[in-house]
Amino acid sequence: LDNGLMRTPPMGWLAWERFRCNTDCDNDPENCISERLFMDMADRLAEDGWKELGYQYVNIDDCWAAKERDSEGRLVADPIRFPSGIKALAEYVHAKGLKLGIYGDLGTYTCGGYPGTTLDQIELDAHTFASWGVDMLKLDGCYSNSSTKALGYPLMSKALNATGRPIAFSCSWPAYEGGLPPVVNYTLLGEICNLWRNYADIDDSWESVRGIVNWYSRHQDVLQPVAGPGKWNDPDMLIIGNFGLSYEQSKSQMALWAILAAPLFMSNDLRAITLKEASILQNKLLIRISQDPLGVQGQMLLKGKNNIEVWMRQLSSSTMALAFFSQRTDMPYHYTTSLGQLNITAPQLFSMQDVYSGWVLHQLEIDTEFTVTINPSGVVMLFVYPEMQIVQDWDKRRPEF
Ligand code: DGJ
Repeated sequence: LDNGLMRTPPMGWLAWERFRCNTDCDNDPENCISERLFMDMADRLAEDGWKELGYQYVNIDDCWAAKERDSEGRLVADPIRFPSGIKALAEYVHAKGLKLGIYGDLGTYTCGGYPGTTLDQIELDAHTFASWGVDMLKLDGCYSNSSTKALGYPLMSKALNATGRPIAFSCSWPAYEGGLPPVVNYTLLGEICNLWRNYADIDDSWESVRGIVNWYSRHQDVLQPVAGPGKWNDPDMLIIGNFGLSYEQSKSQMALWAILAAPLFMSNDLRAITLKEASILQNKLLIRISQDPLGVQGQMLLKGKNNIEVWMRQLSSSTMALAFFSQRTDMPYHYTTSLGQLNITAPQLFSMQDVYSGWVLHQLEIDTEFTVTINPSGVVMLFVYPEMQIVQDWDKRRPEF
């Protein structure tokens, strides 16, 4: 969507996977969907180094609204759990230099049973969100049929634009239609949405992450070309820092999401995350790869009988990211190859940096073989960049100084 927003994949935090529809603030005040939760996360994003790295959205998901609209038909936040209201929450978040995202559903109800947005309420709700100072809307698709969705998503895109407030638009539409053409029209989605969910909801398990990754590689010929600045495929939230992923699997999710040019919305408890987990999510080189200005989505180049997948993303300034991803379950696997064997065109002389360990290999050529060791369900990710041959030659001729 050409609204000037999200020219690189958006980064931030989203409540759903970790906090779901927990509305029990009496017994679980710290973890229920309430203004306190979002203020806590805004505090953490602003104070623990996340914001500076690009994590700027604090996003509300389902179950924030009161069960009924107000007397004028407007959506209102649950008065017990959001006593200050969404406008005040947006001000709080903005004062921290962050942005606030909200959730709606095109249909009679949200998936969690809260008031949805029917076709006749689209303009009103867009206006309400804008008047609250909201910066992003995720529009879900429970309780509506395909023809309502085909009308409603373009209408909401228009209505948001008409508010005059820049509001990024996340569409769950394709995920409800199987995610593939001809039913899903990705050309249209790129014109009306900044990002879209293509596939199933993520859960707190490796099985879930693997299922998603396999779906994206299986359909990459369709999905890879449709992404770009302002329009991204969304394989769903990062679940690093929760309970379902090992350390290796956490590194894999982050690496693959960066290769996929995916939105990086963490759904975890930033109040409780360990340094080890945070260091994956805060890896600067990985974030640089994710946020590459070319905005070209990467893809799987090959999957061997050894169950090692090689993924690649083309980046700006003749650089690229390579990921060796193991779907093995036995032991670390030694993989020897060269860029030439992988059919990758490379600069004449290049270097590679291991994104997680920091190790650098210098002076490689297209046929230079190298070996990576990939742990089960783990990844080795390399940043490949041209060797600065000219600068080095010049340096060598400098002893006169
Ligand atoms: C379905 C969506 O795909 C999820 O991400 C989440 O928003 C839930 N609905 C909320 O009910």
